[in-house]
Amino acid sequence: MHDIEIKNMLRMANDAKDRAYAPYSNYKVGACLKGESGAFYLGCNVENAAYGPTNCAERTAIFKAISECERKFSAIAVSSTGETVPVPCGVCRQVLAEFCQPDMEIVCSNKYGEYKLFTLGELLPHAFTKSNIDGGTIDR
Ligand code: THU
Repeated sequence: MHDIEIKNMLRMANDAKDRAYAPYSNYKVGACLKGESGAFYLGCNVENAAYGPTNCAERTAIFKAISECERKFSAIAVSSTGETVPVPCGVCRQVLAEFCQPDMEIVCSNKYGEYKLFTLGELLPHAFTKSNIDGGTIDR
């Protein structure tokens, strides 16, 4: 990703973060997912009093995109209110692996705007995917 694209996507993720519903953890997260069409899908974490139904920002963004018929993605930016640079949780990595290639770039930023770049393959090597089920022969 070029520097300008990183900054642009982090700015949108940061705006999405301000819309987080996180009254239990007080830890707000925003995500900006770029579809291959060029469209951006924003998401925030949405918590729940029962804790378990909480949805992370990354999954909010990806579910929004899938529901809008976008199925291929080139990058995702994640911004949080934390002191440390965040990384997508294990569940989000698995959901990303369903739709994204291992070389997809993931840029993550803390509240100071410090960021780190990863690839999905780095964060989730040896992912379990549809190819494990049927060799990837069925078109989903
Ligand atoms: N959270 C995210 O939104 N993304 C992640 O990758 C890690 C965690 C949210 C879930 C919960 O609302 C809060 O951060 C604290 O775990």
